[in-house]
Amino acid sequence: MNNKTPYSLSPEACASRIFEMSGAEFEPDIAADLWSKIINHKWLLSEKVGRDVGLRTACIDFLENMEQAHDEYRAYKHKDILKEMGAQNISREMWDTIADSQPPKQLVQRRIILPLTEESLAKKHGVVRPKAIIFFGPPGTGKTHFVKAIAGVLSWWYIEIIPSMLMADGLEKVGANLREVMQQARNLDEVVLFIDEFEEIAGSRDTADRIDKSITNEFLKQIPLLKNQENKILLVCATNYIRQLDAAMLRPGRFDCIIPVGGLDRKGRATILEHYISKLNAGQVDLDQLIEMTSGFTPADIQYFIDQVAHFAFEQELIDKKDYRVTTDTFIQMIPKVHPSLSSKVIEEFEKDSIIYSRV
Ligand SMILES: Nc1ncnc2c1ncn2[C@@H]1O[C@H](COP(=O)(O)OP(=O)(O)OP(=O)(O)O)[C@@H](O)[C@H]1O
Ligand SMILES: [Mg+2]
Repeated sequence: MNNKTPYSLSPEACASRIFEMSGAEFEPDIAADLWSKIINHKWLLSEKVGRDVGLRTACIDFLENMEQAHDEYRAYKHKDILKEMGAQNISREMWDTIADSQPPKQLVQRRIILPLTEESLAKKHGVVRPKAIIFFGPPGTGKTHFVKAIAGVLSWWYIEIIPSMLMADGLEKVGANLREVMQQARNLDEVVLFIDEFEEIAGSRDTADRIDKSITNEFLKQIPLLKNQENKILLVCATNYIRQLDAAMLRPGRFDCIIPVGGLDRKGRATILEHYISKLNAGQVDLDQLIEMTSGFTPADIQYFIDQVAHFAFEQELIDKKDYRVTTDTFIQMIPKVHPSLSSKVIEEFEKDSIIYSRV
């Protein structure tokens, strides 16, 4: 059942229809606003009872429960949109898997989380609510993980948009699909909207062809629309290729922060290693030695390393038919299978980008 019904009337006609159906009199402008809500209410009632409810019934019911009926409609619509956009609930614990030293946890805590959770204090000091941020950095450094953790710690919905999804109807339609998705998202509240592979829809217009230019233009139009919303929406965009973004995206005023996400220090590696080791059938493991061995590892490398160890242990027990405990030696045996993603060249390039592009 859809609620796009041909009920558009002039304000005067709205006033007279409402009067005919309920006997209540309203000024035309007020009646026009009520009319659209009555139409929505008719749709909602029909959805609830599973058959078409008459306009008169909907009108009377709406006028009797005006506030509540409108809120109910909004909540119902939100649920629909959340489902359609694949909104996820993320547990608060995800935030705790990130060490305080893992870049950029402290920064995100200060610049994003606290202004959103300490609302009245932020308002008192004129701290503007963050609405749009960019994460950039090499693959596997934990950008997506961070975005989810932010949604978890805020207890907001997490919605992920991958540009390749917007390309399903062909390249020509990406701009229109993007507009539609952003329009839908603007109806929601308490949402972290994550756009991954951001360079795909925000690439530099200098070198782009006609279609890519129009996609970037569309996105540039969408940012202020989203930022002007009163509802709580945090747009987070992530990219491995900050250099490819259009210069206009990076100008102050568009995004509140542009945040680099780079390599892990010892404490960062320790927290992730401990998190994953707790899932293994582990015996004696020397954490300090593992921290040493995993220099240059991203969170993705650590996860892959642990996967290798887990499979090895599983297979050993299948063969030997006796309890196999993972020890430091198991890790030493498996380490040649994993190569650190963060070579000195990657780190050097990332550090250059961090100096040029970061805005925190
Ligand atoms: N602090 C952490 N604790 C545990 N696992 C983590 C942590 N950070 C990241 N990971 C894991 O490491 C893997 C890589 O992280 P993630 O996907 O967030 O990286 P990314 O920067 O988004 O990579 P890409 O640029 O390729 O999209 C994921 O499986 C993620 O769950
Ligand atoms: Mg990612």
